[in-house]
Amino acid sequence: KSSALWGGRFSGGPDQALAALSKSTHFDWRLAPYDLAGSRAHARVLHAAGILDEQTLEAMLEGLRRLGADVESGSFVPAEDDEDVHTALERGLVERAGADVGGRLRAGRSRNDQVATLFRMYLRDHARIVSGLILDVVDALVSQAEAHPDAAMPGRTHLQHAQPVLLAHHLLAHAWPLLRDVERFRDWDERAAVSPYGSGALAGSSLGLDPEAVAADLGFDGAVENSIDGTASRDFVAEFCFVAAMAAVDISRFAEEVILWATKEFGFVTLADAYSTGSSIMPQKKNPDVAELARGKAGRLVGDLAGLLTTLKSLPLAYNRDLQEDKEPVFDAIDTLEVLLPAFSGMVATLTFHPDRLAELAPQGFSLATDVAEWLVRQGVPFRVAHEVAGACVRRCEERGIELWDLSEEDLAAISEHLTPGVREVLSVEGSLASRDGKGGTAPTRVAEQLGKVRQTAAWQ
Ligand code: ARG
Repeated sequence: KSSALWGGRFSGGPDQALAALSKSTHFDWRLAPYDLAGSRAHARVLHAAGILDEQTLEAMLEGLRRLGADVESGSFVPAEDDEDVHTALERGLVERAGADVGGRLRAGRSRNDQVATLFRMYLRDHARIVSGLILDVVDALVSQAEAHPDAAMPGRTHLQHAQPVLLAHHLLAHAWPLLRDVERFRDWDERAAVSPYGSGALAGSSLGLDPEAVAADLGFDGAVENSIDGTASRDFVAEFCFVAAMAAVDISRFAEEVILWATKEFGFVTLADAYSTGSSIMPQKKNPDVAELARGKAGRLVGDLAGLLTTLKSLPLAYNRDLQEDKEPVFDAIDTLEVLLPAFSGMVATLTFHPDRLAELAPQGFSLATDVAEWLVRQGVPFRVAHEVAGACVRRCEERGIELWDLSEEDLAAISEHLTPGVREVLSVEGSLASRDGKGGTAPTRVAEQLGKVRQTAAWQ
């Protein structure tokens, strides 16, 4: 006998091909613990509304308890012809509590409000888990920043040397977007914390059930205001997918830098053995696979979001079976992040930086030219002129294959009368860094302050 929840008006069971297409237990089974919690809450409101007597309620809760234990131990699993997690669990309840008791639970609820509720519960739990894992990456960045308070590096724009910055400043620039991702999950949770239970298939319930009681029971802030919206909207899934994709994209930007930094040409970092891989043919190889997988998987999460939005586009109200396609993309996004983030934070925490190499490159590529121009401005020279003069210094150096600090006093004076020997004070990385001391700047004092703010923000999340 089929476990289908909708046999009444049909003369036979579904065709094999339809059953195979329709089935979702291979991916929605992970919602089972939430479905069971929803069922317990639903049983209690059925009782409160006078639909279940005390004895039946007790028998039902006992059946659900035993079923929960069997789900947890793995002794109860979906059967071949269970359509989805809800179908399987109703079968399990009937097997344990009997058809008379088990068959009463479905009154006043539909899989449409059920799945929308469970899905929110599942995502709310995983928003917290993923947020914790993102904060671990932030932690690793903060530790590295703390361990290198004075290390300078070449700051880049267009991937070209631009101005020297502190390594700690650069690392914290990767921490802030991640902290915002965690904040996004928290904001998302405020909107996700409403329960669709009680919406029924789309129109609400006629049995006097209290959706607010179920909502409170399941840890929601309240029940949805509109039963059609409750059963048909999935913007909460799309928004979750966006935050997940954003976090992956943010991670991928640091991943790309680690890949570059670990090359012979850069030589900024060495990866720990535990977080690198070798080559099956080239014995010397040490590859940054964690960072590369992070870069690659970001694309996958963007795909999850794009796929989900495409499913939702133009979908009429209310529930449509297309909505069953809402789960795999976001489950994939979650599973991916939950595997990726621990590896990534481990890789970051165990990076060995090479401050000497970073310091050597920091002033190269004429990255102090802006300091020359700004020094001239402080001497009262208009910036247009100052920019020209500093540019002329660079040109002179390029012609002679030297760096800015190699220009003699005579060279400087020949370029411009404004270039008195005092300009040499700013021709050092330390001088340049210390001078950028406005809020948000790379001066060591500001970065130390910033480090405190990052720690504070991370602790508050
Ligand atoms: N498995 C379905 C889903 O994930 C549950 C709801 C099915 N509702 C229905 N009327 N067929 O969306």
